[in-house]
Amino acid sequence: MLFVLPHLLVFLLVLLPISSIAQNNGNVTVGKFLTATDNTTSWLSPSGEFAFGFRPLSNQKDLFLLSIWFDKIPDKTVVWYAKDDLNMSSGGATPVPRGSKVELDADKGLVLTGPQGDELWRSNTTVGTVSYGGMRNTGNFVLQDSNSKNLWESFNKPTDTLLPSQIVERLAGVVLYSRQSETNFSKGRFLLKLQDDGDLVLNSINLPTDNPNDPYYNSKTTAGDSGTSSPGKQLVFNSSGYIYVLRENNQTLLLTKVKLEPTADFYFRATLNFDGVFTQYSHPKTPNANGSWTSLWSMPDNICGATVSNSGSGTCGYNSICTLQVDQRPKCDCPMGYSLLDPNDQYGSCQPDFIQGCQEDKLSPGKDLYTFGELIKTDWPNADYAFLKPYSEDQCKQSCMEDCMCAVAIHRLGDSCWKKKLPLSNGRVDYTLDGGKAFIKIRNSSSIPPQQGPHFPFNPESRKKNQDSLILVGEGVLDALVEHDVEVLNDREKLEKFVMVAIWCIQEDPSLRPTMRRVTQMLEGVVEVLVPPCPCPFSSTVIMS
Ligand SMILES: *[C@@H]1O[C@H](CO)[C@@H](O)[C@H](O)[C@H]1NC(C)=O
Ligand SMILES: *[C@@H]1O[C@H](CO)[C@@H](O)[C@H](O)[C@H]1NC(C)=O
Ligand SMILES: *[C@@H]1O[C@H](CO)[C@@H](O)[C@H](O)[C@H]1NC(C)=O
Ligand SMILES: *[C@@H]1O[C@H](CO)[C@@H](O)[C@H](O)[C@H]1NC(C)=O
Ligand SMILES: *[C@@H]1O[C@H](CO)[C@@H](O)[C@H](O)[C@H]1NC(C)=O
Ligand SMILES: *[C@@H]1O[C@H](CO)[C@@H](O)[C@H](O)[C@H]1NC(C)=O
Ligand SMILES: *[C@@H]1O[C@H](CO)[C@@H](O)[C@H](O)[C@H]1NC(C)=O
Ligand SMILES: *[C@@H]1O[C@H](CO)[C@@H](O)[C@H](O)[C@H]1NC(C)=O
Ligand SMILES: *[C@@H]1O[C@H](CO)[C@@H](O)[C@H](O)[C@H]1NC(C)=O
Repeated sequence: MLFVLPHLLVFLLVLLPISSIAQNNGNVTVGKFLTATDNTTSWLSPSGEFAFGFRPLSNQKDLFLLSIWFDKIPDKTVVWYAKDDLNMSSGGATPVPRGSKVELDADKGLVLTGPQGDELWRSNTTVGTVSYGGMRNTGNFVLQDSNSKNLWESFNKPTDTLLPSQIVERLAGVVLYSRQSETNFSKGRFLLKLQDDGDLVLNSINLPTDNPNDPYYNSKTTAGDSGTSSPGKQLVFNSSGYIYVLRENNQTLLLTKVKLEPTADFYFRATLNFDGVFTQYSHPKTPNANGSWTSLWSMPDNICGATVSNSGSGTCGYNSICTLQVDQRPKCDCPMGYSLLDPNDQYGSCQPDFIQGCQEDKLSPGKDLYTFGELIKTDWPNADYAFLKPYSEDQCKQSCMEDCMCAVAIHRLGDSCWKKKLPLSNGRVDYTLDGGKAFIKIRNSSSIPPQQGPHFPFNPESRKKNQDSLILVGEGVLDALVEHDVEVLNDREKLEKFVMVAIWCIQEDPSLRPTMRRVTQMLEGVVEVLVPPCPCPFSSTVIMS
């Protein structure tokens, strides 16, 4: 007896850790819940490679996203997130405040509620009663009934990422939407879907609606005109990591054309990136999880040069220029004289740093108002309003210079001249373009002495200087104008803007007064408000320094 006891103890000690490991079979029973806090726990897959729970949003304090992520790598890359499927206008992810809760309910499935108990999202299981849920080793979170039948799977509700062993069925209404940016999970401008006709397509959409522009990629897996070929029925990411379109006749169109490392050593994922590129990635499964995601292949081959869409801005925002980088991802840049509409959105639209338009040009007749910026191998297909031929480069430039509608002139093929209007769309650098140049009109800032008329700065530096000088004006005058209202004075910039708009409106020369539409645009900040000339040319009131 005495010698049996130590053996029993050793036996028990050996057994203990095993049984506690065995407890994590990924199963989560009804009634279990998670709370969104900093040190929130999560529901792990048996392998520990995937986790389900709340992730803090990096760019928004105190907001969390109910998500699934790779848990054994430093990145904790998110592969799925709860999003509002029904509400078109919100579309993207559903960020929730600290203290929100997700609970597994027998009838409703996963229910996400805010700190006050208000329901924010639910998994919407169709029929049946949920017995338990579980994070599977594939990265699929499933809800099952008592017969282990799947009632709901995160794999059937993909967001922007697919994982090995995940299948997208045609006619299941599954659409992958890109995010707004790497850190902003709102619905982005691109989608991927297996259409009803069997074609796998990538489209840009006209937010906030889903209305698609022409596809910039398609797999050409339709039945064909005369039903000669078999339409695609599934987009398959098989368990070895290969992605293909499976046709109805079981033929495949392989999209992964590279040879893959074994899944035992590497993680794989395919993501519709926020910039519209669909990319398959791999990540080593080293014990200490060093390394990072490597891009294996992407589609389309060249998103900048992809099919020109008849509507929408193209890959980058309006007036922007797309350059393809070595990793097949696009870079978006504003042309000279233009800057980002939203300084935080590199991929968004660009606006001229000056006002251009027939009305503005009329203000300074006979002056050298513009200069040309020259761009090579650059084009904005589709913004043409005039095609002049035969026309020399000089004629082309001259014609654009004198035309108040013209924003860009393209001279190519020796004798062809295209005149383009704003907003420019589908802008791209195209190395296949043979010669030719794009000339972009930029307001010649030195053409108008500031004291005499509107000042049209086109570089941010000069604009800043201009504003500084305005603040220096007496103009005490501003303080008096608003009766030293501290709140108003704190927003000096806005105040100055309003005063300038007012002065534009009281110009003695009626032709200088802006239209009501222009005034609205100025107040809304859609167009820049220029420093107005003195309202009455013969009075001694001088507004600017
Ligand atoms: C989860 O729990 C159910 C019911 O106890 C069981 O039948 C099922 O096998 C479990 N799943 C796993 C993956 O262990
Ligand atoms: C969770 O984090 C908070 C601080 O953010 C800390 O006060 C609390 O003790 C932590 N709880 C646990 C269980 O670690
Ligand atoms: C849809 O989402 C928008 C923006 O989040 C919200 O204002 C609107 O009330 C929602 N509509 C419905 C029907 O839930
Ligand atoms: C739940 O699913 C049903 C059937 O698919 C659908 O009609 C209903 O609109 C869905 N409701 C929500 C809130 O997603
Ligand atoms: C994310 O993008 C949307 C749409 O552009 C914007 O409304 C929202 O404020 C952004 N969220 C954050 C946290 O920047
Ligand atoms: C996945 O697809 C590739 C390419 O078609 C094939 O070679 C491989 O055998 C498939 N793996 C599995 C597990 O079906
Ligand atoms: C395709 O393959 C599936 C599964 O192997 C089989 O059941 C089906 O009959 C095949 N279809 C055709 C048209 O060969
Ligand atoms: C992993 O990264 C850490 C820190 O960068 C480094 O010290 C370590 O040697 C790396 N391990 C391997 C196996 O690469
Ligand atoms: C800009 O305007 C000034 C004054 O009219 C003129 O001398 C100059 O040549 C113009 N510059 C260009 C590049 O047209």
